[in-house]
Amino acid sequence: MDCQRIVLPEGDEERTVMAADAIIREKLCYLTLIADPDEVEKKVHQYGLKNIEKATIVHPKDHPKKQEYTELLYEIRKSKGMTLEEAKKLVEDPLYLGTLMIKAGDADGEVAGARNATGDVLRPAFQIVKTLPGITIVSGAFIMILQDQSFGEDGVIVFADGAVHPDPDEKQLAEIAVATAVTTRSILGFEPRIAMMSFSTKGSAQHPMIDKVVNATKLAKEMDPSLIIDGELQADAALIESIASSKAPDSPIQGNANVLIFPDLNVGNVAYKLVQRLAKAEAIGPVLQGMAAPINDLSRGCSVSDIVNLVAITSNQAAGLKSRKSKV
Ligand code: ACO
Repeated sequence: MDCQRIVLPEGDEERTVMAADAIIREKLCYLTLIADPDEVEKKVHQYGLKNIEKATIVHPKDHPKKQEYTELLYEIRKSKGMTLEEAKKLVEDPLYLGTLMIKAGDADGEVAGARNATGDVLRPAFQIVKTLPGITIVSGAFIMILQDQSFGEDGVIVFADGAVHPDPDEKQLAEIAVATAVTTRSILGFEPRIAMMSFSTKGSAQHPMIDKVVNATKLAKEMDPSLIIDGELQADAALIESIASSKAPDSPIQGNANVLIFPDLNVGNVAYKLVQRLAKAEAIGPVLQGMAAPINDLSRGCSVSDIVNLVAITSNQAAGLKSRKSKV
């Protein structure tokens, strides 16, 4: 498989520089660091890094294609009121520059967020790279690696949306389920068994919030009839066979879900952090899904190995996207 080209807009951030060195050592992908080369050099000396010289380093104010990217940005955003002057300024913002490199075909994916808030990473991605055909919203999946391997797929469960869309409607919730199935198949290689989560199981309570989950389940099945999906389910009916057999005896999930789709971002974000902290699970992500090219956001508390893992995932997503495109 070809090596993918991943851009790191926070290229002089300390953990990012250390991760970049490990990524190059492991030959995971080609890297472009957007950074002041002098700042990178200081860290290379400080930590005795040996491999990073193989990365391309571009100064955000001095990209060789600055003029081309400025025109590209202006063309994409002028209908939204952006002026050429604003485009000239934004093209020097590393988070905009990274997404412009992708849009222009000069990079295949991006990882950022060690220094910037989620919204600041996502906004240029939404505005410039946009969504895949047929998908209207981007969402964020977390790959949860549990200590207890009796749950999910040998201890692995995918949670979504834990990061992006605050309050999806029923169609958007269905899209999140379908996109998470694609992520699960392409990154983890197992067949998703999707539980659409709620505070009710199969009509045990009535509320418009539950109707949203029931309708989203139907829509997701229409969008991808091959899906093994069920809802609305409470967490115990989704995850524990003995409870599923009494609360939802006809469920195709049978208390053995390996993908949990949450009804909104309050639930999804709280759920993944609770499982991460209380059950000491490893949380990999958010893996952003539904974007026309893979762009992934780190937590600002990330470690060097979190960055390496997310770059590897981004590179896999980029390769998967290219191979799907070549089959169309
Ligand atoms: N998918 C695709 N496009 C989107 C999405 C989405 N989910 N949300 C917004 N957009 C697009 C809009 O259509 C718009 O496009 P346009 O300008 O071309 O018309 C553009 O993005 C900007 O839209 P706004 O509504 O102005 O979006 P805003 O910038 O206000 O917010 C954002 C978008 C930043 C993603 C917001 O929804 C957000 O902050 N979400 C929560 C992120 C967060 O804090 N997560 C929790 C922490 S993550 C963690 O714990 C690891």
